[in-house]
Amino acid sequence: MDFLRMSGLLGMSGLFSSFAARSGNAEPESLDAAMKEKIKVAGLNGSAFHLKAAPIPKVRIALFGLGNRGQSLIDMLNWLVQEGHAEITAISDINPKKVQRAKEQIGTFQRVVPAVFTGAENAWEQAMSSEVADLALICTPWEWHAKMALKAMENGLHAASEVPIAYTPEDSIELVRTAEATQRHCIMLENCCYNREELWILNMIEEGVFGTVTHAECAYLHDLRQLMIDPTYYEDRWRLKHHLQRNGNLYTTHGLGPVCMYFDILRGDTLTHLTSMSSKEAALSEALSATDDPALRAMAKEVVCGDVNTTLIGTAKGRSIMLQFDVHSGRPYNRLDKVVGSKAAHYGYPSRLYIDHGASWDGHRWLSDEAEAEYRDRYEHPLWSRLQKLAEEHPQGHGGMDFVMMYRLIRCLNLGESLDMNVYDGALWSMVGALSEASVAADAQRMVIPDLTAGLWKQAAKHPVGRSL
Ligand SMILES: NC(=O)c1ccc[n+]([C@@H]2O[C@H](COP(=O)([O-])OP(=O)(O)OC[C@H]3O[C@@H](n4cnc5c(N)ncnc54)[C@H](O)[C@@H]3O)[C@@H](O)[C@H]2O)c1
Repeated sequence: MDFLRMSGLLGMSGLFSSFAARSGNAEPESLDAAMKEKIKVAGLNGSAFHLKAAPIPKVRIALFGLGNRGQSLIDMLNWLVQEGHAEITAISDINPKKVQRAKEQIGTFQRVVPAVFTGAENAWEQAMSSEVADLALICTPWEWHAKMALKAMENGLHAASEVPIAYTPEDSIELVRTAEATQRHCIMLENCCYNREELWILNMIEEGVFGTVTHAECAYLHDLRQLMIDPTYYEDRWRLKHHLQRNGNLYTTHGLGPVCMYFDILRGDTLTHLTSMSSKEAALSEALSATDDPALRAMAKEVVCGDVNTTLIGTAKGRSIMLQFDVHSGRPYNRLDKVVGSKAAHYGYPSRLYIDHGASWDGHRWLSDEAEAEYRDRYEHPLWSRLQKLAEEHPQGHGGMDFVMMYRLIRCLNLGESLDMNVYDGALWSMVGALSEASVAADAQRMVIPDLTAGLWKQAAKHPVGRSL
């Protein structure tokens, strides 16, 4: 079986795969019309946008996928479990060794032993019961995310999935439809939205430091060649397999998520269209060819994902976003984090801030480190100020942002608050990846990004991240 075809309810067998298969013979209008029809048939109505569920004083968590990320998220739950805000009631992985490792890890801070679901590819389904858990935390390979999130909601659980939550338009639409029908939360665990620097920029934008924000550049540039090739890192080399079958931006959200907060996307503005181009492929296949393993050397000829994908996105308010993806090339990690406004600009990696004082001659210099530090102090995001001490005292995960993300998710569920991100955010950010593949397959043609909110995005509001607790 082609493992990539099993994603979500409809997977790659629907309108997207038939479109993508016609590479070079593009009809973007037919994909747009087909998506609009699917959205109409699904009857999307925006009813999960401001969702608040009944408070859950102690959130029972079922954790799916106990690999690199699963282990790390278990660490993020340590304090929340010890404080009585959450309990890990079930764990599932196809690999029994990883289940055993997770059990021992959880045993260091939780007295109750979680129920175990392992031994078969579909063992996880038994854990998707409201008898077992309130929340499904999904940390499996991408092809399982939508399928597991849908099952969770259908069985009465809230769902929080690792990124991306979907990689076909059908799955994005189905996730929204199901969240609306079941009135369950369904979010993507986009941790970069909670990074200190991104929250600081968000706060400066909200306080008017940037004036009118017009443009952003963001990315996921991370050399993953060795990790994708290493047989012990990603289970069964699942990540490498995606690069043998798909070409486009396969990992949109670490860059795009924070920019969507900066631009108040779905809260007064929305993403409307994109065009996407992939460079030729070289770095991953050269790395595969350089191994001693004949099977890997044979794979070198199968890589279809270009080394550098560049996607340009337009918004309803006329703003532009340049989004890049490259996990093949050897270069330092970078998410770019560039924002340009009428009064200021920021470039990331390393962080540089420019404040425009009109047509003066300091136009060629960033702020000094000392001057930027003053802006950092003055505009620290209130969420970070509140949680900094806790984040520093506990296992941090990516400099603290993973802890802050998990804290927000669990505490909002405890108190019955709406979550910082909703199913529409996750579905939209994921949809950009799917449409980038369609655009690449159609010689970089323009793709319309559909509205999944039934027009609710027009309601002007600031992005709500961390404003409540
Ligand atoms: N947000 C972040 O910063 C971040 C960081 C790393 C990974 N991730 C995401 O986390 C997810 C997992 O990545 P990873 O690096 O942990 O990969 P991994 O291979 O280490 O872990 C995936 C785990 O899922 C298990 N699994 C596979 N199929 C399963 C099934 N049917 N039922 C139960 N378990 C199953 C595997 O055995 C494996 O242990 C991916 O979506 C990845 O993109 C996010």
